[in-house]
Amino acid sequence: MNIIEYRNIFREVLSSKFKANEIDFIYKRLLSSFFEFDSTIIGLNPNIKFSSLQKKKLKNALSLIQNNCPLQYVTGKASFLDFELFVSPDVLIPRPETEELTNWVLKSCRNGQKVYDLCTGSGCIALGIKKNNPTLNVTGIDISEKAILIAIKNSIKLQVDVNWIVNDVKKIGSEHSYIDLIVSNPPYVYPDEKKNMHSRVLDYEPHIALFTPINNPVYYYKYCISFAKKNLRYGGKLFFEVNPNYINDIETLLLNSSFSNINVRKDIFGNKRMLSADKNG
Ligand SMILES: C[S@@+](CC[C@H](N)C(=O)[O-])C[C@H]1O[C@@H](n2cnc3c(N)ncnc32)[C@H](O)[C@@H]1O
Repeated sequence: MNIIEYRNIFREVLSSKFKANEIDFIYKRLLSSFFEFDSTIIGLNPNIKFSSLQKKKLKNALSLIQNNCPLQYVTGKASFLDFELFVSPDVLIPRPETEELTNWVLKSCRNGQKVYDLCTGSGCIALGIKKNNPTLNVTGIDISEKAILIAIKNSIKLQVDVNWIVNDVKKIGSEHSYIDLIVSNPPYVYPDEKKNMHSRVLDYEPHIALFTPINNPVYYYKYCISFAKKNLRYGGKLFFEVNPNYINDIETLLLNSSFSNINVRKDIFGNKRMLSADKNG
């Protein structure tokens, strides 16, 4: 079977889940990611045949995708800003709205500042900030050791120097010196929202990265705000990605905890998805 005949199998098997152009995109992405074939190969070498090892890899990938596994976990790669990250089911796949938050943070940083990324996961925000402004002193914290191992792998691959710490946001204490800016995209999906979620997310992404406890949709924000209250310098900035359903609760928490000047932004889908606040002087 050649490369075109294999593509046809992908089209046939995945037709109930994806449009033809999406299937072709998936197929090409697998070819480039697994075998470093470039996107012109199907047109230029339609008769190319796969080795038995290559066939095995494609068959396994097809079965995973048919079972709703996200393409990023199949290839182990996800793009973020202008770079590529390793990802595994131990970390959330970075979302476009988090790229928007990272760009916003980057515009607010001044050279040499000390920046913390709480709940860092794959390290996408911390790495995006440090890669684009190497003068910053950036720390990424996550409770998951497996996530921090992925973040370390990413920083080695990208040659970006970030301080990685395994810790619980509920337990991080006081820093030796004040922090200029804190950013966080903590778990913010309320368990009730499960019923509207695709199995692509529910069955594959880590629940520790997604869900808040029942009856406490702002659980992680409370701890991040309490850490920021103690450790941000006066006039320092706090940035959050948020669940639009609970934005008012987060604003109230901030206003009751020495923060002001709350600035809310919408994401590309028009949802109120991120905010910044200033620590009162
Ligand atoms: C929504 S994910 C965000 C990951 C990454 N920052 C991103 O934007 O893609 C939330 C992260 O919070 C971490 N987390 C969950 N509970 C935590 C806790 N108590 N302390 C620190 N990190 C926690 C999870 O392991 C997960 O990596």
